[in-house]
Amino acid sequence: MRPLTAIAWLALAVAPAVSSAQSAAPAVLRIDAGKVAARVSPMLYGLMTEEINFSYDGGLYAELVRNRSFMEDAKAPVHWTLIQENGGTGTMALDPSQKIGDAIPTSLKLTITAASASRHVGIANEGFWGIPVRPNTRYRASFYAKAAPGFKGRLNVSLVSNDGPAIRVLNQVPSLTNEWRKYEVPLTTGNAPASAANHLLISAAAPGTVWFGMVSLFPPTFNERPNGNRRDIMQLLADMKPAFLRFPGGNYLEGGTIATRFDWKKTIGDVSQRPGHMDDAWRYWSSDGMGLLEFLEWCEDLHMEPLLAVYAGYSMNREGLQRVAPGPDLAPYVQDALEEIEYVTGPAATTWGARRAQDGHPAPFPLSYVEIGNEDNFDRAGGGTYEGRFAQFFDAIKARYNKLQVIATTPVTTRTPDVIDEHYYRNSEDEMASYAHMYDDRPRTGPKVFVGEWATRVGRPTPNLSAALGDAAWMTGMERNSDLVIMSSYAPLFVNVNPGGMQWPTDLIGYDALNSYGSPAYYAQKMFSLYHGDAVLPVEAQDVPTRLWQPPTPSRRRGPDGEPPVTQATRPQRPPAQQVPTLFYSATLSSATHTIFLKIVNRAAAPQEVRIEIGGVASIEPKGQSVVLSAPTPDATNSIAQPTQVVPVAAPIDGLGTSFTRTFPPYSITVLQLNGK
Ligand code: AHR
Repeated sequence: MRPLTAIAWLALAVAPAVSSAQSAAPAVLRIDAGKVAARVSPMLYGLMTEEINFSYDGGLYAELVRNRSFMEDAKAPVHWTLIQENGGTGTMALDPSQKIGDAIPTSLKLTITAASASRHVGIANEGFWGIPVRPNTRYRASFYAKAAPGFKGRLNVSLVSNDGPAIRVLNQVPSLTNEWRKYEVPLTTGNAPASAANHLLISAAAPGTVWFGMVSLFPPTFNERPNGNRRDIMQLLADMKPAFLRFPGGNYLEGGTIATRFDWKKTIGDVSQRPGHMDDAWRYWSSDGMGLLEFLEWCEDLHMEPLLAVYAGYSMNREGLQRVAPGPDLAPYVQDALEEIEYVTGPAATTWGARRAQDGHPAPFPLSYVEIGNEDNFDRAGGGTYEGRFAQFFDAIKARYNKLQVIATTPVTTRTPDVIDEHYYRNSEDEMASYAHMYDDRPRTGPKVFVGEWATRVGRPTPNLSAALGDAAWMTGMERNSDLVIMSSYAPLFVNVNPGGMQWPTDLIGYDALNSYGSPAYYAQKMFSLYHGDAVLPVEAQDVPTRLWQPPTPSRRRGPDGEPPVTQATRPQRPPAQQVPTLFYSATLSSATHTIFLKIVNRAAAPQEVRIEIGGVASIEPKGQSVVLSAPTPDATNSIAQPTQVVPVAAPIDGLGTSFTRTFPPYSITVLQLNGK
C-alpha cells in the first residue's frame, strides 16, 4: 500500500510556491496508527565500507606499524628510519635476497657497524601519523628476524616518545639465530599519559647484521581478536546497531586495474603470507590485514549480516576502464566468486569451507545478498558489458546457491536482479532534501532497492549538522518506503583526519591515532537505526513549510568511458528553482510494544509548531520520550577536539495524546516515542 504522504507531497509539489521558511498555520500531521502502509525492512540500516581515507590501515584495523612488510615501495623502506644513537653507526636497506616466504619478496636488512650500550643502532617505525600509547596497556609486538653469523647482540623492542629520548616501555629478545624465526614481544606500559607522538624502535647494542620481516604491533582489540580491530571505532559502530556490512567496496573492490582489484584469495591466511596491494582506486598501499575473513569476523562481532560484493570483471582507473569480456574470458572470475561464496558459507567439508576452517573459523557465516561489481553504470562505452557480465554471474550463482539474493549495480534487462544498488551523493542539504519523496511514487513492480551509498556532502572531513539535516530528510523517505528500499548504507564510513588521510571529503566517522568521534550525521543515523518499529504508518501532511532552492547547473565532464565532449547543444541548462520542504516526517509502529516512533526533521532556522493527530488507536499515554539532535547553527559539527558538540539528547516528555501540538527546535532532528494502547 502506498503511504498517504505521497499524496500530500504531490499536493505540495503542484501548490503555488511558498518562499518563507515558516508557514503561518502550524503544520499538521495526521497519523493513522490503525493501518500499515508498509513493513519496515529489518535490514534497512547497515554499513558500507572499503579501503578509502585510511579506513582500515591507519583506521579500524588495529595494526600500528605502517609498511610492516616493507612492500609499500620497492625502492626504499618508507615509514622506517635508521636510528643511530650517540655516534653509533649502521645502514638500513631493503633486501630481496632474504625473505620470510614467497608472498613477500623482500626483507629489511639492518647492518650495524658500530654500537655499544650507550650507542644503540636500530630501525624505527613512525606508525600511521604516530603510534598511540595509552597508560597501563599491553601491546603485542611481533616480528620475524634472523642474524648473520657473528651477531651476538640482544634486540631491544621499545615504544619511544617522539619528543625526546623517553622510552615509554621496553622489552628484549635475548638472542637471534641464523634462521628466520617469529618473535612475540609483549610491551606493557606504565602510568604515562596517553599520546600519539611515539614510534616503535627495535635496536641493538652490538655490531652485526639482522634481517626483519613483518614487523607488527597491536594494541588490545575489540573482543580481543588477534589481528583485530580498534576498540573505540568498533564501539561507535556497535552503538549504531547496523544490520549488515557491504564490503569490500566501492572502487576498492574494482581496483584501478584488474591486477589491483580486491583479490580475495590473496587476503586470507597468515598475514605474513599476504602480499598486500596498491589500492590505486584511492592511491595508497593496502596491507590486506583486513582480508576476507577479517571482514566476516567484523560482521560476527557486531551481529551484522555480510553483504558480499564480488569482483565482476570491471576496473576503473583514471586513464580508462579495464573490462573482461563476457564469455570464456570472464569464466575464471565467475568461478572465483563462487569459491568466495563457498569460503563464506560452505561447510568445513567443502574445499573453500575447509580453507576457512584452517584459517580459524570452522563455522560458516550467514549470507543472503551478493552484489555483482560496483557502479557498473560507468561501463557505458560501446554499449557496455555489464548486461553480459551480470547475466553470467547471476546464472552461475543462482544455479549453485538458489537462495542467494543477487544485487545488480545498475539496471539490466536480460535477467531480473533481486535488488538494484542505487547511489546518491548530494552536494547540499536542500539538494538531498529535494529527493526525500522520490520513492513515494516508484512502482513496486521491479526489483527491490538497496541504497548502497548515499550522503549529503556538506562538511569536511566529516559532515556537519546541515548535512545531518539533509540526511535525516532523506532517511524519512527511505524509511517510509522501506517495503521498496530494503537496505541502505551511507558512504564513506571512515576518515583518518590527519593531513593526507582523506581522499574523499564528508565521511561519517573521524579519527586520528588516538581518538575517534561520530559526526552529527553519524548521530542522525544512529537515531534512525535505533528508534523505529516494524510497520510504516500512513501520515497525511498539511501546511508543510518550504523554502526556495536553486539547484546547481549539472556538470558534464567527458567521462572515462569515452563519452563525447560537451558541445553548445549538449551543455546542461540551469534547472528551475524549486520549493523544498523544511519539515520532514516518518512514523513507524512497533507491533510488539505499540510504541509509535515519530521522526520530525525541522530544517528551518525558526522553531516549527506541528499539530499531531493520531487515529486508529484507542489512546496515547500522556508521557513519552523525545530524542533531539540540534545545534544553534547548521554548520555546527564534531571533531577530534570537540567530539560531542552535537549529540542527541533524550528526555521524558509529557502532554501527549491522540491530538497534541509540539514545537520543534530550529535545525533539529527529533524522534518522539509515543506509547499507544
Ligand atoms: O564512496 C566513495 C566512492 O564513491 C565509492 O568507492 C564508489 O563506489 C563511489 O563512486
